[in-house]
Amino acid sequence: MVICGGLKIKNYLGRCLRYLASIAVAAALLAGLSGCAQETEDVGNPRKVKIGVTLYDQYDTFLTLLMDCLHREVEDNVELVIYNASQSQQTQNSQVKKMIEDGCDVICVNLVDRTDPTAVIDAARKADVPIIFFNRELVEGDISRWNKLFYVGADAAESGIMQGEMAAVTCLTDKSIDKNGDGAIQYVVLEGEAGHQDAIVRTEYCVETLMKKGVAVDKLGNSIANWNRAQAQTKVAQMIDSGSDAIELILANNDDMALGAIDAYEAYEIKKSDWPAIFGIDGTEVGLEAVRDDKMVGTVYNDKEGQAHAIYRLSMALAGGGSIEDVEDEFTVTDGKYIRLHYDKITAANINKYLGN
Ligand code: BGC
Repeated sequence: MVICGGLKIKNYLGRCLRYLASIAVAAALLAGLSGCAQETEDVGNPRKVKIGVTLYDQYDTFLTLLMDCLHREVEDNVELVIYNASQSQQTQNSQVKKMIEDGCDVICVNLVDRTDPTAVIDAARKADVPIIFFNRELVEGDISRWNKLFYVGADAAESGIMQGEMAAVTCLTDKSIDKNGDGAIQYVVLEGEAGHQDAIVRTEYCVETLMKKGVAVDKLGNSIANWNRAQAQTKVAQMIDSGSDAIELILANNDDMALGAIDAYEAYEIKKSDWPAIFGIDGTEVGLEAVRDDKMVGTVYNDKEGQAHAIYRLSMALAGGGSIEDVEDEFTVTDGKYIRLHYDKITAANINKYLGN
């Protein structure tokens, strides 16, 4: 007990000192890093904190919404610069170098290739600029390569479990889902990009949860549609063409692909009562509307507001010379590196809480 108390006080004092240090550094930044503010020309125009961001693909629906949330966080004394890597790791590496040259105080990286962060890490380390990776998680061996590397995202397993639980409730309570009455649910998984942690983990956990909850399942196929609505529509249309009208359940790794499946059924003018039960993940605006309109049975909320807030607060702490411990009052920090926001289940029952968010 005493030791715990002592540790707590030590932690508290440590936090205070770090807090004071970060205020001092922030003050130095605001004073243009040139000594006494009164002596500079920039008195009324202090240097802004500069946050650089690079996205794997700016046209990704979830990331667009996440960036909208990040923009809303930005205060007057902060400049936010966002680059699109257009799915090229090489382009992203050059963007990171450019942001370092441009004097970014912290760089937020949505990796194109989550297994290839070496050039980004090396450049940042050389220039001593902290990096916050987000949404596309690098492997543990890479994040431990330097003490100024962090990750903000969510726990992919949690989203897979929630999707599986919602689907299980539907399959166990609504007997009309088992259209051919064979006692098993014929299902298809629409998967995100190969190698993305959310695609791998969501796929595994949603099906495992469904089975654990006692739903007899029969896999008709897994199809990669790269998080993309049009690709998902094409894949599902092919399944319908090839006579897979027996699909009773579609578990999509994200809302865009669930919407692509809906597009396919609508394009074939298949009547709603013959559709499979369709589930997504993200809770995007269009995804929520599909739940409201009873086209998607449920989705899982990917907390974009929480992730944007964590990225921003951590950026500000790091830019001011502080550390991830400075945001522990608001976020759960794991291993001194990770902040993961929680997901939430959304069905027709609680959709109103999310619509208009
Ligand atoms: C989201 C997807 C998004 C992907 C991009 C996932 O967490 O659920 O909608 O396309 O991240 O990396």
